[in-house]
Amino acid sequence: MNTQPDFSKNANHAATAPAFLSVWDVHAYYGESYIVQGVSFNVHEGEILALLGRNGAGKTSTLRSIARIGDPEVRKGEIWLDHKPLHNMSSYEAAQAGLGLVPEDRRIIPGLTVEENLKLAQIAPPIGWSIERLYDLFPRLGERRMQEGVTLSGGEQQMLAIARALARDIKVLLLDEPYEGLAPVIVDEIEKTLRIIKEQGITTVIVEQNAVRALKLADRAVILDTGGIVFDGTAAEVLENKALREEYLAI
Ligand SMILES: Nc1ncnc2c1ncn2[C@@H]1O[C@H](COP(=O)(O)OP(=O)(O)OP(=O)(O)O)[C@@H](O)[C@H]1O
Ligand SMILES: [Mg+2]
Repeated sequence: MNTQPDFSKNANHAATAPAFLSVWDVHAYYGESYIVQGVSFNVHEGEILALLGRNGAGKTSTLRSIARIGDPEVRKGEIWLDHKPLHNMSSYEAAQAGLGLVPEDRRIIPGLTVEENLKLAQIAPPIGWSIERLYDLFPRLGERRMQEGVTLSGGEQQMLAIARALARDIKVLLLDEPYEGLAPVIVDEIEKTLRIIKEQGITTVIVEQNAVRALKLADRAVILDTGGIVFDGTAAEVLENKALREEYLAI
């Protein structure tokens, strides 16, 4: 008999409450591969939500669905940001509506300096943080403003990718594995800036393999498993629940 506890009991309840970013019953496919299988969760304005789960659980696919990348293709469901229907938008329109996705591979543009990468993000309105304000947040980027972006260290490239998202006027920052491959001291530095970004009122969704670090930063957590939600609650609940952590996060 399957005696596995059901951690998902809060999920439906959470999905029906009004929220700033609302993901409702999203189903998405890569070709005929059915990957995101009815995902629903809410993100409240100004909070940090950790979106967690094992390798292949569907975290990146969920972020890409929200950002309207088109691959995976969302065939059913609704995504609302600040009363605007993202599910009817292209990725460009979703970005205009205030969505900022920082993908796992960071996508720094070759041949451009740090500053040119930032200026390119501001080529069209709506413009967000000024370049000087971004250098205040990430002093390392200011020091290297004339250096080619792709020659930065991994941590500095992650900072540039986050700064480039903030260079546009965004409401929600979606981060896919921002700590990947970085030394703990650099993770500390990025975490500190994510707290400052939160204080400025920006809402964040963070996907991280380093679940403990993400949970210590986050207010709430959603856990995905094989394309569906298995937990929706506070980050503290996950940190305190050994059975849940072992079952879905292997920590
Ligand atoms: N372009 C694609 N075409 C077909 N299947 C894909 C594609 N991208 C991802 N998948 C599959 O979708 C599932 C979910 O992948 P996804 O990248 O969303 O997981 P994830 O939770 O981000 O994993 P990880 O922790 O390894 O980054 C996996 O089974 C993966 O093999
Ligand atoms: Mg991923």
